[in-house]
Amino acid sequence: MKFNHRHVLSMEQFSAADIHAVLDTAENFLELNSREIKKVPTLRGRAVINFFFEPSTRTRTSFEIAGKRLSADMLNLSGSSSSVVKGESLVDTALTLRSMNPDIVVVRHSHAGAPHLMARHVGAHVINAGDGQHQHPTQGLLDLMTVRQRFGQIEGLKVAIVGDILHSRVARSDLIGFQKCGAEVWLCGPPTLLPPEFARFGARMTYNLEEALTGAHVIILLRVQAERMNSAFFPTAREYSQRYGLNSEKLKWARKDAVVMHPGPMNRGVEIDPSVADGAHSLILRQVENGVSVRAALMMMLLGGGDRPRGDA
Ligand code: CP
Repeated sequence: MKFNHRHVLSMEQFSAADIHAVLDTAENFLELNSREIKKVPTLRGRAVINFFFEPSTRTRTSFEIAGKRLSADMLNLSGSSSSVVKGESLVDTALTLRSMNPDIVVVRHSHAGAPHLMARHVGAHVINAGDGQHQHPTQGLLDLMTVRQRFGQIEGLKVAIVGDILHSRVARSDLIGFQKCGAEVWLCGPPTLLPPEFARFGARMTYNLEEALTGAHVIILLRVQAERMNSAFFPTAREYSQRYGLNSEKLKWARKDAVVMHPGPMNRGVEIDPSVADGAHSLILRQVENGVSVRAALMMMLLGGGDRPRGDA
């Protein structure tokens, strides 16, 4: 299937067929991940700039590993070490990078829309690695991959997204992606973190965790994003944990074969109890593993490198 996308900016741009094509390509990449020599020449001679204006462990590292396994030249640039700190605008930064002719620029930024602005000026393919509270499409895709791997399908599953919906770009990307693929999505959190306008996305909404979890195949817990909160959204972390944190007892409300996911980083003891994070239902580390494959797939597909990594470097 032809991949007709110049950039990866939002889950909204993808059809269900696009999503499954990316996941199929990512599945092909898993085999490379398990080889002793994990390198193929698919993107040899291509340059990818990882430009992160916000902290990241999983996303930045997985783009770098994926690019290196495909033999791309990977360059890491952080907002704090760039001339942005001297007052250079994002547009001037994009035009400067454009002069060096990169093939892909991966952007994480605290402002929604920053990757879109970069895409208009940088002259390369842009992948949104998370912009403010807006979107995190590669996280959405790796979450879909993880669920499809476990259940063999996405259509017809009940997916409960629980926690700090208001501040979560993951919630927005997951909500759109899972709905496009035919899942029934429930959003659950305290009223201060679950704004009514989310109803326009067509999700089921509840403030009651038991209702959200009952019959759920997939539970996606979200981090309480203290760094994006400038006022109190709930009385105490302890109270949040009692009402919305997932422990082994509350997990029994879901299906016996339910899986628990979290984009990370986790606040252990707040939104997730360690017994669940490290328990048999948890796919949290599988999500991280799949992140490498999804990001490799997207880079290959954007650069027309086929649907599977070929040959040895
Ligand atoms: N899920 C996620 O975006 O994690 P990082 O912030 O570590 O990249």
